[in-house]
Amino acid sequence: MIFFKRILARINRVINPPKNIEEEFHAKYYYSKVWADTYFMGKKVFKCPNDLWIYQELLWEIKPDLIIECGTFHGGSTLYYAKLFDVMDLPGEIITIDVDAMPDMPKHKRITYLLGSSVSPEIIDKVRDLAKEKKTVMVILDSDHSRDHVLKELELYHNFVTKGSYLVVEDSNINGHPVYSGFGQGPGPMEAMQEFLPSHPEFEIDRSKEKFLMSFNPNGYLKRIT
Ligand SMILES: C[S@@+](CC[C@H](N)C(=O)[O-])C[C@H]1O[C@@H](n2cnc3c(N)ncnc32)[C@H](O)[C@@H]1O
Repeated sequence: MIFFKRILARINRVINPPKNIEEEFHAKYYYSKVWADTYFMGKKVFKCPNDLWIYQELLWEIKPDLIIECGTFHGGSTLYYAKLFDVMDLPGEIITIDVDAMPDMPKHKRITYLLGSSVSPEIIDKVRDLAKEKKTVMVILDSDHSRDHVLKELELYHNFVTKGSYLVVEDSNINGHPVYSGFGQGPGPMEAMQEFLPSHPEFEIDRSKEKFLMSFNPNGYLKRIT
């Protein structure tokens, strides 16, 4: 399997060569798969450190009292947000949703785990109930990265995001933006945003959150401006 993935990565690099030094590094970093070998306090976190730092800045800037995270996996990102709230002495909580339960989920008083599909009516009802008293809400979409699923999540979750806060669409770099072009990869988060944004002028792409020159979420930091 790993051998097959390496071949796939090489083919991708040949059919879609990097255009500049940022893309060259992005491709090298991404295809090395080191992002699948990245940890926060021993828990796997499937993110690029540049984006983790941006989250740290965002949490301080926005001070959300609730983060809704679609896609828990091992809970490394969830624990990271919880510990940031601890260190910052903020009252934030996190609801995290996944179709699969991992055996080693981190326990933390700020984290509520929901088991089920992020787009199921039962989960949406629970999220609505848990979010109803919250004043500043941020949403992070990091579950199934196919366009259709992300588009459904955008439609279902965008109204939880409060004015001035962010809707983060993760892994919009796939399907050729600039990695995993065309080969074995269908439309993904970037294409979902392209469909969603024209009819949602209340959200603006905040490119300043890509200041570290490489982000796994290009165009994916969406600020709610109205
Ligand atoms: C990329 S991982 C999440 C990574 C995690 N947020 C992190 O940063 O370490 C994607 C997760 O989404 C989950 N997932 C896939 N389809 C889903 C769905 N329909 N609803 C909720 N979670 C889903 C998978 O089980 C997987 O654990």
